[in-house]
Amino acid sequence: MDRIRFCLIGAGRAGTVHARNVAFNIKNAQLVAIVDNNKVVLRERGEELNVKNLYTNLDDALSSNELDAVIVVTPTFTHRDIVVKCAEAKLHIFCEKPMAIHVSEAEDMNSAADSNDVKLQIGFMRRFDTSFRRAKELIESGDLGEVMIIKSIGRGPGLPPPWTYNVSESNGLLGEVNSHDFDSTRWLVGSEYEKVYVEASNKKTKDIKKKHPDFYDNAVCTVKFKNDVIGTIDGTCPAGYGYDARTEIVMTGGLISIGETRAEAFFCCNEDGILTESTHDSWRNRFKDAYLEELKSFINSIIEDTTTLVTGEDGKAAVKVVVAANRSIKEGVPVEV
Ligand SMILES: NC(=O)c1ccc[n+]([C@@H]2O[C@H](COP(=O)([O-])OP(=O)(O)OC[C@H]3O[C@@H](n4cnc5c(N)ncnc54)[C@H](O)[C@@H]3O)[C@@H](O)[C@H]2O)c1
Repeated sequence: MDRIRFCLIGAGRAGTVHARNVAFNIKNAQLVAIVDNNKVVLRERGEELNVKNLYTNLDDALSSNELDAVIVVTPTFTHRDIVVKCAEAKLHIFCEKPMAIHVSEAEDMNSAADSNDVKLQIGFMRRFDTSFRRAKELIESGDLGEVMIIKSIGRGPGLPPPWTYNVSESNGLLGEVNSHDFDSTRWLVGSEYEKVYVEASNKKTKDIKKKHPDFYDNAVCTVKFKNDVIGTIDGTCPAGYGYDARTEIVMTGGLISIGETRAEAFFCCNEDGILTESTHDSWRNRFKDAYLEELKSFINSIIEDTTTLVTGEDGKAAVKVVVAANRSIKEGVPVEV
């Protein structure tokens, strides 16, 4: 198998990033079909990417095309059923994060992938970003001693989609935005979570709170890992000022800092001394290369028959801590993970 034939399922914001990479930027990949239940989105994406096989129904796509793999980029609450169906059709699966809403759904997805002997990779692209990888290598080298504290920031410029407003059905901001932080800190620290305590507030979206009393737009989590590393994860959505993903790791022998709020090493100022700089406007730009690298890595694991670098078990671990974190908000106490 030297060219992987893909079907994209969900051609919205993140789906478009993946579809463009498959269609234009990866040599041994081909975008064969697209599924989206929105006909307008489907037609527009098909025209842009020159894909003729367009479906509003997943079953039709699976039965009408010769496929090797799918990219699942639909709203999180649909992931379980779609992934199980694709695994049963013997297709390798790249599934966007968060893997699922409930831990039991993640378990069903892992069992389906295992029993049908297909690859499953979860879209935690930070693991493929150069700075995050350098940090991981440095930690593993032991040159700076051991991790003591990890601090991770995940702030999105705009609101998450409306289906996230009901937190008990979606896991809210902590699921949709900060599951990246929960995964990357667990990966960097190299340990499972032990405990999480979260304070959340609603400062900018009182209108949403009126209809959905649980909705929060800020959260700060104190976390403890089983290997005694402690840390914080904070999230804000909508941050407004830009997309902000930074991590700081305090080591016994030094400090590692990943990411910047500034988009580039550039500023200009006028005669009044007013300085202009730019922030990252979107996750699409900040992690542009990482989105490409994660798909290349997924393709390699299919061709070389190796384990994916972000497994379904990693996806499940992130769902588990997000569920515990939301319980902590509700109950006002630290929760064992
Ligand atoms: N890795 C990242 O940085 C990143 C960034 C954004 C979104 N995401 C994740 O990607 C997923 C999608 O998010 P999005 O922001 O792209 O959403 P979106 O709303 O922009 O796109 C989702 C698309 O799926 C389609 N759809 C919905 N239900 C469907 C179904 N049952 N079958 C087929 N198509 C269906 C919708 O019509 C829409 O076009 C979410 O899980 C989200 O958390 C990840």
